[in-house]
Amino acid sequence: MKKIAIFASGDGSNFRKIYNQIQKGDIPAKIVLVVSNNPRCGAIIFACEQGLENFIVNHTRFPNSDTRDKLLLQALLKAKVELICLAGYMKLLPGGIVKEYQNRILNIHPALLPQFGGKGFYGMKVHEAVIEAGAAESGVTVHLVDEEYDHGKIIAQKKVKVRSGDTAKTLAKRILKVEHDLYPKVVKAFCKDRVVWE
Ligand code: GRF
Repeated sequence: MKKIAIFASGDGSNFRKIYNQIQKGDIPAKIVLVVSNNPRCGAIIFACEQGLENFIVNHTRFPNSDTRDKLLLQALLKAKVELICLAGYMKLLPGGIVKEYQNRILNIHPALLPQFGGKGFYGMKVHEAVIEAGAAESGVTVHLVDEEYDHGKIIAQKKVKVRSGDTAKTLAKRILKVEHDLYPKVVKAFCKDRVVWE
């Protein structure tokens, strides 16, 4: 059983998919902590409904960023977290956490990295950029996290064709469905120690 922390800032649909697969016994893991910068987001509401521990990290709660980063790392270590899954987390992770959890932090991005990724490419902006560029395909990337946005080693990708007449919204909807399929699979592989690197 791997101990997982989920980091999410939004709706939390990827988080819910992972949670459901764990509940079904399909992923050998336990979510021991849900971290967010937004106490009112869907992910935190869901975490509370399920009785999962949560930790809110934002300026209001911890005005001093050093203290904030220190307490977050402490919370992860105290919960004995072994894998961090970013699922729509809108903040850059503190360097100390990236270091401590090297090769044990996953992120999902709604495009085919390295294209349409990096600072500023988040949420609907990603899909708007894909449509604007006239790309024939987009997709989903699950990757390891390092200090740069959307930069670490790619673990899995799945393509999604851009259809003529697609808007950012219609494309986002199809891509999210693929995310819901791919992310739990990668988390499962990781929890079964099937993700290896040289
Ligand atoms: C997803 O599109 C994910 O790829 C991106 O943020 C979005 C989160 O959606 N990183 P949700 O909160 O899981 O519904």
